[in-house]
Order: sequence, then C-alpha cells, then structure tokens
Amino acid sequence: MLIVKYKNMKNWKVKFSSQTVSFLLEGKFAAINKIVDKSNAFYITDENIFALHEKKFIGKNTIVIPAGEEHKQQAAVDFIIEALLHFGATREAVLIGVGGGVVTDIVGYVAGIYMRGVAVGFVPTTLLSMVDASIGGKNGIDVGLYKNMVGLIRQPSFLLYDLDFLKTLPKHQWENGFAEIIKHAAIKDASMMKALASHDLNYYQKNKKALALLIEKNVKIKVKVVQKDEFEKGDRKLLNFGHTLGHAIENQHALLHGHAISIGMVYAAKISQVMEGFNDTGLLVDTLKKYGLPTSMHLDIDQTMQIMQKDKKKQGSSIQYVLLKKIGYAVYQSVPIKSLEKLIKLYS
Ligand SMILES: NC(=O)c1ccc[n+]([C@@H]2O[C@H](COP(=O)([O-])OP(=O)(O)OC[C@H]3O[C@@H](n4cnc5c(N)ncnc54)[C@H](O)[C@@H]3O)[C@@H](O)[C@H]2O)c1
Ligand SMILES: [Zn+2]
Repeated sequence: MLIVKYKNMKNWKVKFSSQTVSFLLEGKFAAINKIVDKSNAFYITDENIFALHEKKFIGKNTIVIPAGEEHKQQAAVDFIIEALLHFGATREAVLIGVGGGVVTDIVGYVAGIYMRGVAVGFVPTTLLSMVDASIGGKNGIDVGLYKNMVGLIRQPSFLLYDLDFLKTLPKHQWENGFAEIIKHAAIKDASMMKALASHDLNYYQKNKKALALLIEKNVKIKVKVVQKDEFEKGDRKLLNFGHTLGHAIENQHALLHGHAISIGMVYAAKISQVMEGFNDTGLLVDTLKKYGLPTSMHLDIDQTMQIMQKDKKKQGSSIQYVLLKKIGYAVYQSVPIKSLEKLIKLYS
C-alpha cells in the first residue's frame, strides 16, 4: 500500500482525470521508506544507474534491467514481471522506476498490466525524465524499431525528485534535457527563455538552487499542458514543437534525441517566420548554442520528407506542425507537404 504521508517533503498534489499525483519536488531518495511500505516496494532501475548508485539500493527489492533505448522492448517487460513473481509481489505492490525515460516508460507500463494494475511511483534520474518523460502518464515500449508502439496512459501515484542523482549524469544527457527545457520556454514561457539566454549549461550544472527552480518551473509547464489535455486532443500537441522534423532526422543520423529536436526547433522557427510572422529565431538559436545543442546540419531532403510523411501527424496532403507566433506562444497548424518541402529546402 502506498502511504504518501511524509510531511517534510514538499508535496505538490496534482489532479489528473483518474489519479492524484504527488510531486515531491524536494525529495530525498534516502527517505523513500517514509512514503512507501518497504515490504511491498519493488525498485526497478537500469544497470548504469545501479552501478553508479548501488549503495542507495541496499535493503531494497531491486530489479536491474539493461540500459538503453534498444532494451525498451517486450523482453524487459517479461523480465520484470518474472522478477516480480519471483519476489512474490502482490496486488499491494508499489513499483518504483528509478531512472531515465526508458526505465520510467517501461515501469509505468508494467505497473499498468501486472495483476491488472498496481501502484507506481517514479524517481527520475536524468534531466530529461525530470522535466518531461516521467510526467504525464504516457508509458510503454518500442516494438522493434517502431517507437512507443505499445503502452497506456496511466498516471503514477508519485514522482520523487532527488537532484543528487544528476551528479553522475554525463554531459550529453544534460544537453538532452536542456533541449526539452528550451522547447518549453519556446512554446510557453518567454521569461524563462530570457533567463536561459542569459546563462549557460555550466551555470545550471554548478548552481543547485537555480537548477532546482528551473526544474520546478518545467515540471509545472508540462503538468499544466497535460492536465489541460491528458489524452492529446489539443494543447498537449504543442509539446511536439521541433519533434516532427526532429524525429525524422533522429533515426536517419543516429542523433541524440535532444540534438535532433534542437535542429527540428530551428527549422520550425524558420518555417514560422514565413507562416506566422515569427521574428525571434536568433534568440532561439543563440540559446540552444549555449547549452551545447546543434542548430544546423546537412539534410537529405527527399529522405527526410519521406520519413515525415509516415509520421502519425500526417493528414491527407498536409502535416500538422507546431509553429511559433512569438517566443512563449505556439500554435498547431496544418502545413501542406509541398510548402513544407519548399521551406525546408530554402533553409537547408
Ligand atoms: N512518456 C513520455 O511522455 C516521454 C516523454 C519524453 C521521452 N520519453 C522517453 O524517454 C526515453 C528517453 O529518456 P532519457 O533521455 O532519460 O533516456 P535513458 O533512460 O535511456 O537515459 C539516458 C542514459 O543515461 C543513463 N542514466 C540515467 N540516469 C543517470 C544518472 N543519474 N547518472 C548517470 N547515468 C544515468 C541511462 O542509463 C542511459 O544510459 C525515450 O525512450 C523516450 O521515448 C517518454
Ligand atoms: Zn522530446
């Protein structure tokens, strides 16, 4: 049974359609036994995190899965379910995913199907999972090369933020997280973009207080968007800013997700200049650069257009595209594929 009752952890409760989620924004993983019943708590993490933070798992029922997107597959689900059965986990179990988006996506899904559903909590350990992947209830696995093909929308009971985990996060994973943070600023928060533009990656890595505040702000942006549109009928689609082109080049060039969407955002900003009169591409580009993110690359236009047309967002001869009217104000627009191709060519 889950017993979120620890008064000393700041507990921000957010109501979604079927579940209230506790955001423990100043959480301490060391104090987690105060919020879950130890004997029913089952921790699932990946091998990298386990190797770096092994001591934190002493005395806990822990299941360690292989790290990496290539393991976000059914085999990991089977492995976790078998381990849970081996541990004797019942309907009272609470699964706790400690990791990046790969772990939280898999664990959220397993919790949704194990014994027809048990409680789940997340301890996000990458910047990206703190501000994006672990929030919103989307979970699931890839099927072969097809990303996120199987899964559920189901909210966790709690998210515990312990920023100490970030001490071991490699630099490129910080960049990955900042791509989503800059995305949030671009679509929802002009003043955050200003703050980001006046600092850089090094500043936030060194300044714990500023980082904690920035994470909290981004959690709130994602929560607000999801709360308004849990099942992605409208506003939640804005979170795809930079992702349509980003996804098309991510696989083609084996780029890191954050790097691909960084380039995707720059193209989307340039397309917005023509379609929406947007005039702040320079600010976006300069900010991305400060966080080690790429802002241009050579594109194979034909291949990119082909991949984009296979995307879920295609409708007839148009593609649904997130564009900016100004920093902090995004819109969802249907753009004819022909015009899109012309504009992408123009800016390549
Ligand atoms: N559900 C959603 O709404 C949503 C949103 C965005 C992304 N996602 C998913 O999230 C995944 C990407 O998440 P991610 O970027 O966190 O990737 P990830 O989980 O693969 O983590 C990245 C790498 O960092 C390592 N790592 C994690 N925490 C660490 C730490 N504290 N110190 C050192 N190393 C650490 C991991 O072992 C891994 O090698 C994708 O599968 C994506 O589909 C889901
Ligand atoms: Zn993303």
